[in-house]
This record gives sequence, C-alpha cells and structure tokens, in this order.
Amino acid sequence: MKIIVVKDSEQGGKEACKIFKEVLADNGTVFGLATGSTPLTTYRNLVKDDIDFSNAISVNLDEYVGIKPDNPQSYQYFMNEYLFKYKPFKHSYLPQGDAPDSKKEVERYDKVIAENPIDLQLLGIGRNGHIGFNEPGSDFNLKTHKVALSPSTIKANARFFKNEEDVPRYAYSMGIGSIMKSKKIILEAFGAQKAHAVAAMIEGPVSADCPASVLQKHNDVIVIVDEEAAAELK
Ligand code: F6R
Repeated sequence: MKIIVVKDSEQGGKEACKIFKEVLADNGTVFGLATGSTPLTTYRNLVKDDIDFSNAISVNLDEYVGIKPDNPQSYQYFMNEYLFKYKPFKHSYLPQGDAPDSKKEVERYDKVIAENPIDLQLLGIGRNGHIGFNEPGSDFNLKTHKVALSPSTIKANARFFKNEEDVPRYAYSMGIGSIMKSKKIILEAFGAQKAHAVAAMIEGPVSADCPASVLQKHNDVIVIVDEEAAAELK
C-alpha cells in the first residue's frame, strides 16, 4: 500500500484527481465510484478540472434498497448532483434501488461489473472498517449482494436523513471479491473518526473484523489520509 498523508480533505481531493487523470491518460476507461462525504472533495476537483469522461464508464459501489433513483437520498441522485451533471460519462451504472427482484438485480449488476472491468476504484471507509457496504464479518469472496446495514452504519448515515428510522435497512453492494479485481484502488479517509479504522486497515491483521484490511493483499492501493485519520498509525 502506498500511503499519502495530506493536510486536509481538500488536498486529498486534489491528489485523487491527479490519479484519475493519470489513469485516464493511460487509457483506463472504467471508474468505480463511491458516495458519502469522503469523495466530495475529489468530485469537486474533478468538476473544476478539464478532465473528460465522455468516453469513460462509471460503476458505483452501492445503492440503498427500496429507494427510487430520483429520491434525493439515493446514491444515484448523489452522483448526479456532485459529478454526473457536470462530468457526464458515456455510461454510468449503479445498482437500482427499486428493482422489483433483488436476485435478478444482483445478477444484472455482476454482469455489468464483469463486462466493465474496473481500472480505478475509489473507496471511502466506514468507522467500523467497511468498504462499500461490506460490513465486518463479510466474506472476502463475495460479488454483488444485498446486505443488511449494521447498527453503526445506520447511525453514521442517519446524518443524511431526517430521522434515524428513515435510513434504509438494506443496500446492494459490490462485494469485496469484485472490489479486489479492480486494477488500481484509491482509499480516502478524512477526520479523527476514521483513525481507528485506518490503523486497523493498514497495520492490523487481514481479517473480516476489518473488511478494508483485505486491501493489504492488493498490489496497487493508494491510501490518501489527512493527519487526523492518520493519527493512530505507528
Ligand atoms: C459509499 C460507500 C461507503 C462509504 C463509507 C464512508 O458509497 O461505499 O463505504 O465510503 O461509509 O462514508 P463517508 O464518506 O460518508 O464517511
């Protein structure tokens, strides 16, 4: 793992933006994308940049189950708001939260990933070490699946909803098996709340207790952390 410690998330977003540009210049065409607060500075920098994704494909990590794509809480809406409306891709794929049949939706998404091998995957990390919605205890070989969100993730994500009860209990998530097939991975973490998970990911044992620790086994991972998130590293 290559670790880049930056002053703050703004600087982190700039670093990530540079890597997106390098991958695109190197003929990378498929970008795995994340939502949440962490990638916002990256998307802001991409929007400001002259980068052109019109011949590229995006494949998002996850989506809440039971939510329509035009619902402002959906990850589809988030992506439109912060990136796609400024920087359209040739095609953007996300799991469809309101798909009538979960089994078919999971199969459809696995096919999307198989047909569009990811050149660069952008990840955030949960306070409990999750990546995508692969919560502690997740099987490292999983492909796309429907997952029950852990109580700590529901609590953490409640800040985006009116009440904690409104947070969906299930999500579709790309599995760790699929994430690990990405050619290159950037994981970003900003803020003191991520310090424990970051230390467990980088210095802890590779264990399902901290799903992100599996990244120690990938040969091209760049971790971009601010000083607060790096605070528990030895
Ligand atoms: C989002 C995702 C999640 C987040 C993680 C951190 O698509 O897959 O794993 O990256 O929950 O969320 P934030 O960035 O809001 O702290």
